[in-house]
Amino acid sequence: MGAVEIKPGIFWVGAIDWAVRDFHGYITPHGTSYNNYLILDKQVTLVDTVKYDFSEYTIDNIRGLVDPAKIVNVVINHIENDHMSSLDRIMELAPNALIHITARGKKGLDRFFDTSRWQFKIVKTGDTLNTGAKTITFLETPMLHWPDSMMSYVKEDRLLISQDAFGQHVASAARFDDEFCGQYSVMSLEHAVRDYYANILMPFGTLIKNKIAEVQKLGLVIDMIAPDHGIIWRKDPGKILQMYLDMANDKADLRVVIVYDTMWHSTERMTIPLMEGIKSAGVDVEVVKLRSTPMSVAIKSIWESRAMLVGTPTLNNIMFPSVAEFLTHLRGLRPKNRLAGAFGSFGWGGGAVKEAYEAFKTMGLEAVEPGVEVLYRPGPEDEKKCFDFGKRFAEKTIEYHKRFNGNEPVQCRP
Ligand code: FEO
Repeated sequence: MGAVEIKPGIFWVGAIDWAVRDFHGYITPHGTSYNNYLILDKQVTLVDTVKYDFSEYTIDNIRGLVDPAKIVNVVINHIENDHMSSLDRIMELAPNALIHITARGKKGLDRFFDTSRWQFKIVKTGDTLNTGAKTITFLETPMLHWPDSMMSYVKEDRLLISQDAFGQHVASAARFDDEFCGQYSVMSLEHAVRDYYANILMPFGTLIKNKIAEVQKLGLVIDMIAPDHGIIWRKDPGKILQMYLDMANDKADLRVVIVYDTMWHSTERMTIPLMEGIKSAGVDVEVVKLRSTPMSVAIKSIWESRAMLVGTPTLNNIMFPSVAEFLTHLRGLRPKNRLAGAFGSFGWGGGAVKEAYEAFKTMGLEAVEPGVEVLYRPGPEDEKKCFDFGKRFAEKTIEYHKRFNGNEPVQCRP
């Protein structure tokens, strides 16, 4: 896809990855895009690059607008490979360009490239780059989501180039929110945002809240948000800011998600009366089987629901491997403000359900104890126990959910 002008003199020059389905373990059924931006001003300035495999696409897009040798500045907002691994290709074409990067970004970049032949300017929050008619202000966003991360704000265009933040993993011919929603739907865009946030940004809610507050304090008026993945927020940048604030405040649906795995269908059979018990209390319920579902999909379901019930058979006195793997992955994402419970079948000694509760404790999650354990296959009495536990768990979820109220709306335009 050729360059697209997003603001006068500012062009999307990125690449669309229709085919990626496994983004370092995160399943991306709709592909993604690597967005970078070219500012055609007195000093031609490139903001970010793309994943190495796609370097020819961005170089062609740049060439369609200007001779790459004319690039005076390269801004590197983030050094993860999907955004900077074609920097050496760019620097071959524009060897005299000055690279604007955070101190941590430079330190990281030194581990990827021989940077001794390149010129750098280390920047921090509030530093500016005047390209002629435009002024870029840098805003460090450490740990959103890497230590080096920053954003670039173009004052004259009220444009925030936000790097990974506010992105989505979607490959689309649409470049803007209004185009995408016209072609698909608002809901599909919201799903993509939540999926991305759950799998990448879940640990950083407090930092996100602080950063949004900092942006508001700096008085930056935002008319457009251009992330480095997915569509650009042209029509409604306030929507994505509000969604992020809601998610950072741990907003979730009043719903229980049952995430389970099973050896010989016994733990699986427990999900039916559990589900019926939850429903009987008037709470929505979703059931997700691990091994049949990509982990990143299960993570999104956990993120969207106020409570989770984890089902695990006991294997060799411990949790079933896929469930243990899932809880380890979830622990790294540091979920908060979600209620937890566990259930499962065992043959002789048991132990998996106890381990699941220990995992919840390690994560600092509030849990409803005891869970339900069944010897071998659930019989009618066990099913009644499951139904009752599901109902009790849902009632506790209703009470727990009341702690979380709505948030103040975010404003990004006066
Ligand atoms: Fe899209 Fe942190 O890289």
